[in-house]
Amino acid sequence: MDRTEADALERARAIHDDLSAWRRQLHAHPELAFQEAGTAATLRGFLEDLGVRPSAPMAGTGFAGTVPGRVPGPTVALRADMDALPIQEANDAPYASVHPGVAHLCGHDAHCAMLVGAAKLLADDPPARGAVRLLFQPAEEEGGGAERMIEDGALESPEPGAIFALHVDPSVDVGRIALRNGPVHASVGDFDLVVRGEGGHAAKPHQAVDAVAVAGQVITALQQLASRAADPVHPFVLTIGTVEGGFARNVIAPEVRLSGTVRTFDPRQREAAPEWIRRCAEGVAGAFGARIELEYRHGYPATVNDASLRPWAEGVAASLLGGDRVEEAPTSMGGEDFAYYGRVVPAFIGRLGVRNEGRGLVHPLHHPKFDLDEEALPIGAAWLAGVARRWLDDAAA
Ligand code: NI
Repeated sequence: MDRTEADALERARAIHDDLSAWRRQLHAHPELAFQEAGTAATLRGFLEDLGVRPSAPMAGTGFAGTVPGRVPGPTVALRADMDALPIQEANDAPYASVHPGVAHLCGHDAHCAMLVGAAKLLADDPPARGAVRLLFQPAEEEGGGAERMIEDGALESPEPGAIFALHVDPSVDVGRIALRNGPVHASVGDFDLVVRGEGGHAAKPHQAVDAVAVAGQVITALQQLASRAADPVHPFVLTIGTVEGGFARNVIAPEVRLSGTVRTFDPRQREAAPEWIRRCAEGVAGAFGARIELEYRHGYPATVNDASLRPWAEGVAASLLGGDRVEEAPTSMGGEDFAYYGRVVPAFIGRLGVRNEGRGLVHPLHHPKFDLDEEALPIGAAWLAGVARRWLDDAAA
């Protein structure tokens, strides 16, 4: 390495204005999963300005870019997600979303800007050997863009030896990075459950099967799965998110439709969940003469950080910030489709602190007022570039 890692953060801070400008342009023009055409065009333009040629489209709107080292060698991948959320932003910043009902409230705008920043840092001072593949993927929030990227060859020819990513974290102070080995994001399962009874007159319940009353029992019983069916040392969350049913106050509802989600790290609980729900709901509904229909869909698998990559993730974070600013990250029951990359190659996702209480930047991800401290952007860009560079150096050695 001709320049030391110690001044890597200084070099990243020198492009702070670019990072903010890129992030703000993306933030103002958010797009939902698999609709990121404008976002992708913007990002392709940023990369071309740096002399990095974007690939043909992958996964619809996604694409890759490659920053070559000085001589050929192994490949390492870095990933950013491009999609926004179907939420109305409640911030009045000059860069607030101009698209009603759509906003970057999970920080994916920052992820993309930091990956472009990493591309700039790497292009200005290429790694000695190998290549860095930059993955800009669609649809992290919904639809599993990562899985589609892999289907379209994002991890092929050649296969990268490792993949790294960062997610912004408003529970961690700006100037810090949080890391964790092993499971970091839970698996996701979604279900629709219909409780079918028999309609009737509200005053004559004995002639009907009240789907509302049965659904109430089913909801209560399903909560017992977390405490009685799941292993207490393995977290298990079941949430019923919607309840719909009935026509009028004086009519017994013939059916109630419930929908919900299941989160766990444990693959056995992930596999068992549909049968647990079916058995519980069928039994309770059957006790009152009602029937159920269950549709269950397995979503993202659990994201498991490969502990063998921790030395790069932590070593670079410590050299940028100081070891006392690298903390242990908590696990999250939220899903993250970075999981799919980890099924193919060693993968590690870190958390970048973006919280700043003094400036009121404290709202959680997906909150209508979520915003981040842009002082985090050079840190994230330097970390991404740094882990790629250091991993390539070590892989070559
Ligand atoms: Ni996110």
